[in-house]
Amino acid sequence: MAPDDWTSGFFPGSLWLLHDYTGEARWKAAAEDYTGRLAGLRHFTGHHDTGFMLGCGFGQGFRLTGRADYRSVLLDGARALATRFGLIRSWDFGPWAYPVIVDNMMNLELLAWAARESGDTRLLAIATSHADKTLAEHYRSDGSSFHLVDYDPATGAVRGKQTVQGFADGSTWARGQTWGLYGFTMMYRETRRAEYLAHAQRIAGFLLSHPRLPADQIPYWDFDAPDIPRALRDTSAAAVMCSALIELATFSEPTLARQYLGVAETQLRSLSSPAYRAPLGENGGFLLLHAVGHIPEKREIDVPLAYGDYYFLEALLRYQRTLVAKQ
Ligand code: GLY
Repeated sequence: MAPDDWTSGFFPGSLWLLHDYTGEARWKAAAEDYTGRLAGLRHFTGHHDTGFMLGCGFGQGFRLTGRADYRSVLLDGARALATRFGLIRSWDFGPWAYPVIVDNMMNLELLAWAARESGDTRLLAIATSHADKTLAEHYRSDGSSFHLVDYDPATGAVRGKQTVQGFADGSTWARGQTWGLYGFTMMYRETRRAEYLAHAQRIAGFLLSHPRLPADQIPYWDFDAPDIPRALRDTSAAAVMCSALIELATFSEPTLARQYLGVAETQLRSLSSPAYRAPLGENGGFLLLHAVGHIPEKREIDVPLAYGDYYFLEALLRYQRTLVAKQ
């Protein structure tokens, strides 16, 4: 995989999470090795995914070690990402004039962190402006999301709303819905703006009350996939949703918090069961089975995916800390 692939940060990030959990030096050494290999991305401006690429490896590494060189890479990465602002444009390829995908909410965490860390409030203003526009344009009245909104760069008007990785333009692609859940929860953590919390809870409400969310709480790859209940599940969406719900519970009133944690617990049990969790040493070394990358392009179908493992590990750590905090 090329360093500028959007998924390059998840493996180093997972190594840091394993070090966080175990305290073992061998995970730290491996994490430092794989994180360092991505340092050349610090000025990357080729697409919107700098938050994933740098935030997972360098971000977790900085959280755990306080290394000044990691901080500096992250701050450069945030400034580079900010150059894509008007809205943060997701992609420079494709038939669109100015495409923004809901996944982009995840990259705002790097901007919010950099604003806090450096005092450059402009970076947080960019993140909130992007989140506000996403909230206004990507969501339907039931809390479900469009994957991609294309804007007119001259006027800012919406040219179209559609899917790229989901089943249909009007469907709800599961991972996109969970990126939004995670992203708005994170933006509430960073800003304490009530509308972000309310929106995260609206997204959660859509997910948790959906008649086609299976009993084991592992979503089908798209909530409107035509072949449900035979449709493929997406463990990566489940892992992102689970990690987000555990954080959202910490901001929610007790009844909702219990509901969110209950679903997250079911997801952790499901993901840890032989139905979804590979035996150690199998599955190419990945933890989770049965994720879905891009069905419309017929790739990464029913496979392990690095981001599934990363958010599964993060969810386990967040859950463990929730339990410790309750003691
Ligand atoms: N951000 C790309 C994906 O979720 O597949």
